Amino acid sequence: MNHYPVDLSVKPEVRPFFDPATNTISYVVKDPASNACAVVDSVMDIDYAAGRISYESADKIIAYVRERGLTVEWLIETHVHADHLSAAPYIQEKLGGKLGIGRNITIVQDTFGKVFNEGTEFQRDGSQFDRLFDDGDTYTVGGVPCVAMHTPGHTPACMTHVMGDAAFVGDTLFMPDGGSARADFPGGNAETLYDSIQKVLALPDETRLFMCHDYGPNGREIRWETTVAEEKTSNIHVGGGRSKDEFVRFRTERDATLDMPRLIIPSLQVNMRAGELPPPDESGKRFLKVPINTL
Ligand SMILES: [Fe+2]
Repeated sequence: MNHYPVDLSVKPEVRPFFDPATNTISYVVKDPASNACAVVDSVMDIDYAAGRISYESADKIIAYVRERGLTVEWLIETHVHADHLSAAPYIQEKLGGKLGIGRNITIVQDTFGKVFNEGTEFQRDGSQFDRLFDDGDTYTVGGVPCVAMHTPGHTPACMTHVMGDAAFVGDTLFMPDGGSARADFPGGNAETLYDSIQKVLALPDETRLFMCHDYGPNGREIRWETTVAEEKTSNIHVGGGRSKDEFVRFRTERDATLDMPRLIIPSLQVNMRAGELPPPDESGKRFLKVPINTL
């Protein structure tokens, strides 16, 4: 049973933005009754080989919001992404809005503060964000009632944000033929992920689910939207009532075969800072570190 105060009678307009470089889907979520909107999981572009960042993807979102005369109330990060860099601070500077993430960002900051040997100037208290969501916290986007559900397992800070009848699941679930995300990053846990997926599947059947990633398995076109009902019946990892033991065994075996995501090293250093680059050193230049034999 779902115990979260969701209201499926409000149906926000959801505009996806697909980033082919990282297979990430960002969203602008608009209140049907006003010009208020939220931006979910934006992407900052990086040419890692060249050490060059740019903002073509974020500029598309900014142009869309400006053309439609929308007001950004929230910039939501479903979690600390390990495969792309967030553009939230860049968008916030241009369009405003409050930047929010799950409370357990502090655990992620502590873990990766150590991995990257950050000094004391790197705060591990989540203070880089405007709001740290606890499980069940509610907020609004215009007239859209929203609730944050803590759905850890992929990472400790993962949240699913339900806005009206639309749930943004981050990496808790993939499309039915994509299954689920890996649970082997530091702080990840396959058992916990299974429990979190059950929380999402306990939402009403007709809840629209929006993915953070899609890789077009078996050559199909990219898709990002499904429903709780579809995931329950046909998700290849958890559908049809797959047991926790079975899921954990499968997930653990699969994760042991996976390489690290291509952009994990720059992504974590930037995303644990809420999307800001590391501060400049005494030369005035900014650098990203590559820890050797650590990850
Ligand atoms: Fe992720």
